[in-house]
Amino acid sequence: MTIFVTGGAGFIGSNFIFHMLKTHPDYRIVCIDKLTYAGNLSTLSSVMDAPNFRFVKLDICDRAGIFALFEEEKPDVVVNFAAESHVDRSIENPSVFLETNILGTSVLLDACRTYGISRYHQVSTDEVYGDLPLNRPDLFFTEETPLHTSSPYSASKASADLLVLAYHRTYGLPVTISRCSNNYGPYHFPEKLIPLMIINTLANKPLPVYGTGENVRDWLYVEDHCRAIDLILHNGRIGEIYNVGGHNEMRNIDIVKLILKELGKSESLITFVADRKGHDMRYAIDPTKIHTELGWLPETKFQDGLKKTIEWYLTNRDWWEEIVSGEYQNYYQKMYGDRK
Ligand code: NAD
Ligand code: TYD
Repeated sequence: MTIFVTGGAGFIGSNFIFHMLKTHPDYRIVCIDKLTYAGNLSTLSSVMDAPNFRFVKLDICDRAGIFALFEEEKPDVVVNFAAESHVDRSIENPSVFLETNILGTSVLLDACRTYGISRYHQVSTDEVYGDLPLNRPDLFFTEETPLHTSSPYSASKASADLLVLAYHRTYGLPVTISRCSNNYGPYHFPEKLIPLMIINTLANKPLPVYGTGENVRDWLYVEDHCRAIDLILHNGRIGEIYNVGGHNEMRNIDIVKLILKELGKSESLITFVADRKGHDMRYAIDPTKIHTELGWLPETKFQDGLKKTIEWYLTNRDWWEEIVSGEYQNYYQKMYGDRK
């Protein structure tokens, strides 16, 4: 069994590769990644020499390159993680989100149609459902919740989902889609909330909380997400969407306070800054379908997962110090420099 994992040098894709190589040592994994600012080859160093692993630096929008690789490797399964993934960047520059997230997906789908595969899995997000109001804790996203996107990022992910479903209906392509809530864990790029706050805390830098910090996200430890995708690949029904989340809603401000407490630093580091444009209020997944159909349940409690994540950033300073000392400096200055 050969599995193409696109975007495998990023946060979730790399964790998925580690999970699959450990759980299914007889599978062959081919990682395809363009190595954008968010992709790191060093992340994959522990598996680079494994005999059943191959890394190919390639843009999923490169039709000729992707078709040539399908011709050569004849994959059985494709799992598409490759994406521009940061909402704030999508607000600054939407076009690359449309290219990678929509057109890149269409290239992969065309290659699957041409060469034939037993499964194409699209890694999507709960952000395609838009947001929920804070005063309706009874509401959750189900697979039937209408798409109602807010940011260029979520609009591009929803577009990709629709294309995937269209290729299933029109061409009979054997697809599945997972829509997961916010992930956290090792190798999370430091532009995202949890790693950014850990790294700023360690440097005694201000912690920029958008708006009032009351926005709610539903956090899942990355390994639990990887297990869910593994289960969907093996037991999920073709043509189906599975929401993935562990009923772990947290306000941003409470997460930031937890990180400060864990690292023994003062809450005076918290700085409220201008809100994100179009900022979604609350995400909350109803995971009933994946639980009842596939028996999936999250295994890592948030308190434990956060501790493990902080520990990982403490013991893997080389990984993130390399990142934050480079182009990230310009990014940080641009996004936060005079944000009031
Ligand atoms: P990430 O930004 O950490 O990694 C993205 C990876 O894709 C990087 O390695 C990057 O180099 C690669 N990539 C980008 N454009 C590419 C292209 N054109 N061709 C080939 N490779 C390309 O993202 P992540 O957080 O690991 O997210 C992975 C997927 O999971 C995305 O599709 C995202 O929408 C989805 N998702 C993420 C979360 C989350 O909380 N992070 C939650 C739900 C769903
Ligand atoms: P993020 O990690 O970017 O994920 P997403 O927007 O996809 O949910 O942000 C999580 C939440 O944290 C979101 O409500 C925005 C907020 N946030 C801040 O308050 N400050 C920050 O510096 C960042 C990066 C995010």
